[in-house]
Amino acid sequence: MIRDALITDLDEIESIERASFEEPWSRASVEAEFYKDYSHFFVYEENGILAGYIIIWDLGPEWEVVTVAVAERFRRKGIGRKLLDYALILSGAGAEWRLEVACDNEAAIRLYESYGFVEAGVIKNYYGQGRNAFRMLREAVSLRGNEA
Ligand SMILES: CC(C)(COP(=O)(O)OP(=O)(O)OC[C@H]1O[C@@H](n2cnc3c(N)ncnc32)[C@H](O)[C@@H]1OP(=O)(O)O)[C@@H](O)C(=O)NCCC(=O)NCCS
Repeated sequence: MIRDALITDLDEIESIERASFEEPWSRASVEAEFYKDYSHFFVYEENGILAGYIIIWDLGPEWEVVTVAVAERFRRKGIGRKLLDYALILSGAGAEWRLEVACDNEAAIRLYESYGFVEAGVIKNYYGQGRNAFRMLREAVSLRGNEA
């Protein structure tokens, strides 16, 4: 199940964060997300175990996937997809989305592409020297249906 993240989840979130990223966010950076009014922070819990989380920002005209991570032993079970589904439903179909992802992060790029995100440029050294990121964008879903 997906629910709002709580301060009491910080230990588990920190341990997934450290295991998932070469340059993990500090605990203070993660904690700061609880206090930003534009930030939404959700966790996925399976049988009481915190298996993953997502942070998204509602930046007015557009939304941003700030981070999403799933504990290694829970990956490839559809949890990343459930977290993104939840975020996209929250924003509504009319929202535009953006994100940055490391150019070598094939799993995440495949996941985002499957939701219609497309590459819109490279940001050099975004994650440190020699570690580039793709900017990816997702347009608002047309509510008018297919035009013949
Ligand atoms: C990216 C991540 C969140 C995906 O979570 P997940 O729960 O394993 O993803 P899902 O099981 O929902 O997979 C959804 C889709 O993502 C893609 N995907 C996920 N893992 C993949 C992999 N190892 N290789 C290629 N594609 C992958 C596939 O398109 C997959 O759909 P499919 O299973 O139908 O083929 C997870 O790999 C992770 O936590 N990685 C480390 C943190 C990270 O890099 N986060 C992204 C920051 S921008």
